Amino acid sequence: MRIVDLRSDTVTKPTPRMREAMMSAEVGDDGFREDPTVNKLEEIAAKKLGKEAALFVSSGTMGNLIAIMVHTRQGDGVICDRRSHLNMLTGGGTSAIAGVTTCPIGVDTQGRLDLDELVSNIRPNDMRFPRTTLIVFENTNNLAGGTVITTQDTKELVSIANKYGLHLHLDGARIFNSAVAQGVDPKELTKGCDSVMFCLTKGLASPIGAILAGPEDFIIEARRKRKLLGGGTRQAGVIAACGIISLEEMIDRLAEDHKNARFLAEGLSKIDGFTLNLSTVQTNIVCFNLKLSGLSCKDFIKKLKDNSVLAVHMEGSFGRMVTHKDVNADDIAYALERIEETVDEAKQTNARREKSYSQESVT
Ligand SMILES: Cc1ncc(COP(=O)(O)O)c(C=O)c1O
Repeated sequence: MRIVDLRSDTVTKPTPRMREAMMSAEVGDDGFREDPTVNKLEEIAAKKLGKEAALFVSSGTMGNLIAIMVHTRQGDGVICDRRSHLNMLTGGGTSAIAGVTTCPIGVDTQGRLDLDELVSNIRPNDMRFPRTTLIVFENTNNLAGGTVITTQDTKELVSIANKYGLHLHLDGARIFNSAVAQGVDPKELTKGCDSVMFCLTKGLASPIGAILAGPEDFIIEARRKRKLLGGGTRQAGVIAACGIISLEEMIDRLAEDHKNARFLAEGLSKIDGFTLNLSTVQTNIVCFNLKLSGLSCKDFIKKLKDNSVLAVHMEGSFGRMVTHKDVNADDIAYALERIEETVDEAKQTNARREKSYSQESVT
């Protein structure tokens, strides 16, 4: 049965080249820094991001957590977007493990942190307050709709961080989507950030892994924290080999995912009940609001699954679809047909229900 899976770009399967590379990877014990494939991946990644060093970690969540642990002390405050992955989707790890409080603030429609709110949330030096030591921002901003943060936006954050003596960490889970969409070198988007994390497992299609990058001394400390979290690795070259292919072969093709996302968004915007801000569809993420009488967004997405299209319900009327290498333009056209059909079915069911209510009230 044909299924179009638009839940996330994390559903991407490793490419045939990745599977071959796993078979033939040269490996060693990474605990002794002797895995040549891991070392090569870390070198390539650091260079691509314009940072001195990099560390291969199991996941984006782990990379962000390690960055926080290195940049802060327990009890500190971390300023971040209210709807960021860090604030909403880490299972509480930021407070449970790093021992810091998040200080969530708003973003504008383009996913940029509100700079006035940011500055007003930097706590004064008073022992009653958490000490504000770190700002974290996403590029692309996932729940703002995969919006890109520009070089200029980043410069403004860097200048605030410098002015108030704060660290700046970039959650760049999809930094290459941002770079490709803007046609800029990713180094331009990481410049001035003290650390940056990106995921190999999303549009870049690796089965496991993320990269944390920064200055040499930051990475030495990050390696220590990774060990503390039980995240040290041995012959991890088997998976790092996929990461190398992600960086060498999977970046440029992200443009195709962006094109498909626009096609999807424009199609959705013409279907009854869907509301989208098309100006936020800049990469591979399509966020929407869905309001249909008699059927919640959550239940619609459940129904859609029976009609071969998978999407994610976020909250209330808010849902998300993501394009990736395992769906093409033809799949999107098919998905749009199925979505329209599901809306029509929902409308007919609702009309029948309303008719039977009105007949009941007459008798
Ligand atoms: C913006 C952002 N940061 C971090 C992560 C965490 O990545 P992982 O799933 O590899 O832990 C995600 C995952 O979806 C994300 O979207």
